[in-house]
Amino acid sequence: MTQNNVYISPEEIQLQRDVINSIKVALSQSPACAMVETYGCQQNVNDSQRIEGMLLDMGFTLTDNRNQADVIIFNTCAIRENAQSRVYGNLGALKHLKEKKPSLIIGICGCMVQQEHIAKRIRSKYRHVDMIFGTHTLWKFPSLLSEVMEKREKILDISGSGVIAEGLPVNYDGGVKAFVSVMYGCNNFCSYCIVPYVRGRERSRREEDILSEIESLAETGVKEVMLLGQNVNSYGKDRGETDAFAKLLEKVCRIDGIERIRFMSSHPKDISPLLLRTMAEQEKICKQLHLPLQSGSDKVLKDMNRVYDREKYLETVRLAKELMPDIGLTTDIIVGFPTETQEDFLDTLSLLEEVEYDSIFSFIYSRRDGTRAAQMESVASEEEIDARFQELLRVQNDISARRNIRHEGRIETVLVEGQSKTDPQMLTGRNYANKIVNFKGDESLIGTFTDVKITKAQTWILYGELV
Ligand code: 5AD
Ligand code: SF4
Repeated sequence: MTQNNVYISPEEIQLQRDVINSIKVALSQSPACAMVETYGCQQNVNDSQRIEGMLLDMGFTLTDNRNQADVIIFNTCAIRENAQSRVYGNLGALKHLKEKKPSLIIGICGCMVQQEHIAKRIRSKYRHVDMIFGTHTLWKFPSLLSEVMEKREKILDISGSGVIAEGLPVNYDGGVKAFVSVMYGCNNFCSYCIVPYVRGRERSRREEDILSEIESLAETGVKEVMLLGQNVNSYGKDRGETDAFAKLLEKVCRIDGIERIRFMSSHPKDISPLLLRTMAEQEKICKQLHLPLQSGSDKVLKDMNRVYDREKYLETVRLAKELMPDIGLTTDIIVGFPTETQEDFLDTLSLLEEVEYDSIFSFIYSRRDGTRAAQMESVASEEEIDARFQELLRVQNDISARRNIRHEGRIETVLVEGQSKTDPQMLTGRNYANKIVNFKGDESLIGTFTDVKITKAQTWILYGELV
């Protein structure tokens, strides 16, 4: 099975490169600044790096200061209502900037505006926005921007679906860690989730494109890569391949200079024993697994269309722990799904106790228009859901604190990322389980792997000293 049709053709990519070059010529006479503001997940961070890469190649200087920017792009998220509200608030605040500087170009892209009703609302109510483009038109950013710059016309383009664009620049800002997308989209249609509607069906990048991107990252000094996909276990399935992700991981392990490999997310319904064994066998793959649970109740899992039950999930966790006794486990939990009763919620709590996650990402259910769950009536009140959420945090905080104590007294290898933001006297980095480790040390250690003895464990941070 081939999937050539999903690739943007080399000719079209070249056209975008030509536009980038012509903007560069124009900007050489009058330098300009641009900023990209990112909302949401790692996938969005990676998409923003693509937009930044194109902006840098056009000759823009990147800034964090909205007042300095000549181009402002909001890359948005649609996963929960509060993510969208923040965008509306911040977009409103740009109006006076545009009044002060009419030449300012304001763009909005990403998952939120891939929903047609939202794109239309922004076009009619936020008249200071110049360009709206979707998740499938991101690769066209150079020509869209050039059109706005030349014609000063407003643009809305959320067309297309399910494309892969290779060969455009990415801004990997020179750090030691990088996100690399291995696939895009999702086929799972969990009943609460908007992602399949705004990101399209699953499609996998070619293995050679992924490997050559990681090789060039290694050449620039990147030591850790996080491979991204909504469900990495599906990697290659759109081409009819099986076990392709485990095979890809093995190849990434062979790249010189890359010392640590992580990946997310894995859907519990189809994470394979082979993948867990590959993790266990390959030294470079961090013994850390993010396995989104969502709920511990079989009834709620069914209503969510998650296609696994509590027992199947626990089976995977047992195998992971058997193969990697010290594995760091994290998960996502939704509280207040419409059919969740107090009893269902208690099932979630009991599962947390049983698995003993290192940490969890917890969310209150947010109704998303167009999804199946949006039709369901909630059986609990807002107050009840709020109380459940607080209880969930309390229970998990105790578990996280308990789990962290096991690191005390150990010597762990930390990839040093920089100075700690909360205490500039300290350096900060991450251990194999992606836990933050702070310790005193010389700045020359930044970017290196350093052995640190863990002396104190708190709920969120480990403290240590240089060995
Ligand atoms: N409401 C609340 N949380 C959600 N997530 C996805 N959709 C929703 C929603 N409608 C959460 C899930 C997912 C994570 C990325 O976001 O837990 O795993
Ligand atoms: Fe959303 Fe489910 Fe796909 Fe994750 S697997 S992106 S929760 S539909």
